[in-house]
Amino acid sequence: MDKMGRIRIAGGNQLNGEIPISGAKNAALPLMIASLLTSEKLVLNNVPRLADVRQLQLILENHGVGIGAQNTPGNKGLGGQTLAFSTPAITNTCAPYELVSAMRASFWVIGPLLAREHGARVSLPGGCAIGTRPVDFFLDGLRALGAEIEIDEGYVVAKAPRGGLVGAKLRFPKVSVGATHVVMMAATLASGTTIIENAAQEPEVGNLARCLVAMGAKISGIDSPRLVIEGVSSLHGADFDVLPDRIETGTYAFAVAMTGGNVLLAGARPETLRTALDVLELTGTTLQEEEGGLRVIASGQRARAIDVETQPYPGFPTDLQAQYMALMTRSTGTAKIRETIFENRFMHVAELARFGARISVEGQVARVAGVIELQGAQVMATDLRASVSLVIAGLAAKGETIVNRIYHLDRGFENLEEKLSRCGADISRLAD
Ligand code: EPZ
Repeated sequence: MDKMGRIRIAGGNQLNGEIPISGAKNAALPLMIASLLTSEKLVLNNVPRLADVRQLQLILENHGVGIGAQNTPGNKGLGGQTLAFSTPAITNTCAPYELVSAMRASFWVIGPLLAREHGARVSLPGGCAIGTRPVDFFLDGLRALGAEIEIDEGYVVAKAPRGGLVGAKLRFPKVSVGATHVVMMAATLASGTTIIENAAQEPEVGNLARCLVAMGAKISGIDSPRLVIEGVSSLHGADFDVLPDRIETGTYAFAVAMTGGNVLLAGARPETLRTALDVLELTGTTLQEEEGGLRVIASGQRARAIDVETQPYPGFPTDLQAQYMALMTRSTGTAKIRETIFENRFMHVAELARFGARISVEGQVARVAGVIELQGAQVMATDLRASVSLVIAGLAAKGETIVNRIYHLDRGFENLEEKLSRCGADISRLAD
């Protein structure tokens, strides 16, 4: 018996109907962290109900954030929640190992804590299943703003001497979503102007920047690789919406492409995943932008093999690489998939092989030779996106699939089984 949860799928059903797209996990997390920057109330709408959100609530509460839920049933009962965050005073500037090690993004509290309290002690996040994921860009960025940083027993101890951070011009050596979030948040309360070059342009960064502006920050160059932040002395409250999840959108679009069918991804914002959707169209799936979202129409025929390479936004997202690989397992040719963001993000390859997929990996390149049909199998989830690629494969495979250790899925996909079963999938969670 697996205490970490299992999902059973009887494959072969087409998907038809409507799937409401949730608020983006990777937008909600930094927005929640931004609440540390103000003593006033930050209200966030469309926050997905996910394990990562609950974990971050615990982390924020540890710093003195009061969090209240306002009931919003939302879209057909599957909608997100409205949460209100109030931090009249930061009661603790230490983020302990026990809390930070459970989720890497919690390290990002270092930016607001340093900006508002001029000091923070935050555990290093440690390793993770998709690669080493260092924090050097964060630390160099904060140092550029005048922070003094030491590493002490696994903790980053950061201080802003002489009364706070000071604006500066900096350039990230490589695009980093997290480092952009953190330095941007820190710079909002620094004295003077900060210029961040080679900033991440992911829509979640733009979402955070717009929220900060709603809170009184002065930021220009939003959605560009050059952010200019003029520091202000304090930020105020705001009421702000979490962006719809582009990775969830792409995941369900690929699922429909694999099973066949016709599904409206309600509330999806196609412009936030243009490259992935262009690729999907090239593989043979029809996409229609409608007022209510994105409609995916798939014949159920095997996809054409199209090569992809993951890239920072606006390129093909690394967070859709595993799901795309699932789609390519049944293509009519051989697809080359190159992962350029993370060094170890092919954990799903061995599991996809259990369905009969033919994939070979050499360094950062996977070659996927399409097969006519996948066979249901027992598989194990490794990380969030890898897990959902196994669900997609299971939906299209012949026979029964059991996905073990699905607690990873609960970190990032809201109501996955309900959303899929409403569209005709035979999917259920097994009681352990
Ligand atoms: C964010 O992670 C996302 N997480 C990831 O989603 C996503 O895969 C990633 O961006 C890339 O799009 C959240 O938003 C919570 P990075 P992040 O800093 O910010 C290297 C998911 O499944 N790097 O943009 O941690 C790093 O090792 C997750 O939802 C350094 O070398 O990613 C990587 O190779 C997984 N030094 C590259 O930059 C640093 O100091 C990009 O990482 C920081 C990063």
